[in-house]
Amino acid sequence: MRAVTIDRRGRVSIREVPVPSVGRREVRIAVDTAGVGSWDPSMRPEGRERFAVPGTDGSGVVVELGSRIRRFRVGDRVYSYSYQNRKGGFHAEFVVVDAKKVARLPRTLDAKRAGAIATTGLTALQGVDDALRVRKGENVIVHGASGGVGSLALQFAKLRGARVLATASGRDGVALVKRLKADAAVDGKRSDLAEAARRFAPEGVDAVLAFAGGKPLSVCLDALKKRGGRLAYPNGVEPAPRKRRGVKTTAYDGTPGVEELARLNRAVEAAKLKVPIAKSHPLGSAAAAYKRVGKGHVLGKVVLKIR
Ligand SMILES: NC(=O)c1ccc[n+]([C@@H]2O[C@H](COP(=O)([O-])OP(=O)(O)OC[C@H]3O[C@@H](n4cnc5c(N)ncnc54)[C@H](OP(=O)(O)O)[C@@H]3O)[C@@H](O)[C@H]2O)c1
Repeated sequence: MRAVTIDRRGRVSIREVPVPSVGRREVRIAVDTAGVGSWDPSMRPEGRERFAVPGTDGSGVVVELGSRIRRFRVGDRVYSYSYQNRKGGFHAEFVVVDAKKVARLPRTLDAKRAGAIATTGLTALQGVDDALRVRKGENVIVHGASGGVGSLALQFAKLRGARVLATASGRDGVALVKRLKADAAVDGKRSDLAEAARRFAPEGVDAVLAFAGGKPLSVCLDALKKRGGRLAYPNGVEPAPRKRRGVKTTAYDGTPGVEELARLNRAVEAAKLKVPIAKSHPLGSAAAAYKRVGKGHVLGKVVLKIR
């Protein structure tokens, strides 16, 4: 099969590699669309491997089942998230993953959009539901809401009944989060964040869900209620925020699983989730896709359209 490979020195190529074999509890997926994250270009081979095949998520069609698998049939349209997948990543024509990390497509998304959201969708939903436990009527800042995870977290926070102030990057980012129905929106790089937060919630905000770090995040945290404020962010946000007295802080990882993916499917369908795709590249242009995510200012998600 054709796959994107990265060698120890970080060189990206397209190569013919063996199709991975299927273990008893695994499925083989013919990949349709794979997400490209800012973390993919930094994947490197481990142990005695010569190359890493990057890609933590994607969608496609089940083409082979392990002997213990009853939940799927050959031909099922599925999507999956598997970080550092043992048998290679999703930037390839085929991927073999633990069936527990696989689900059928949500009814409201096609393969291209579902392929873009397994990592970001789980991370967004678990930030809202598990790390922050957002409740109806709460005032929440989603910081970095025009990016891959933030653009989905904003919609899930709304689904749970929160009022959302979305901080976005640039005028185009602000326009995007308004289209996604943020209650209020501000350019978190060029506008007065403190003033926007005061106008949004004069008594202070209940919670901040952060997908970007640094000084602007500190300004968001200054806007929290003096008592009982909460902050959550996925590991990887840089620089990681310092703990603050009186602020319940939760750093977390997006986690796949049968229940987790079933909950994501329900939330995607209930929210009629919109999936902004900034750019779709063919497999052969993976190096350009990696450059694109490295440059930053991606509105939503970059994907590889493999079939
Ligand atoms: N641990 C996990 O399970 C997990 C899973 C997924 C993601 N993550 C981490 O979560 C973070 C978000 O991931 P992602 O894929 O959503 O990345 P992303 O698409 O780059 O999103 C971050 C967004 O924040 C924006 N931003 C930066 N500074 C801002 C500011 N001052 N005001 C408003 N917006 C600002 C960025 O805009 P510009 O690009 O224009 O600067 C970008 O749109 C990353 O650090 C990633 O490593 C962790």
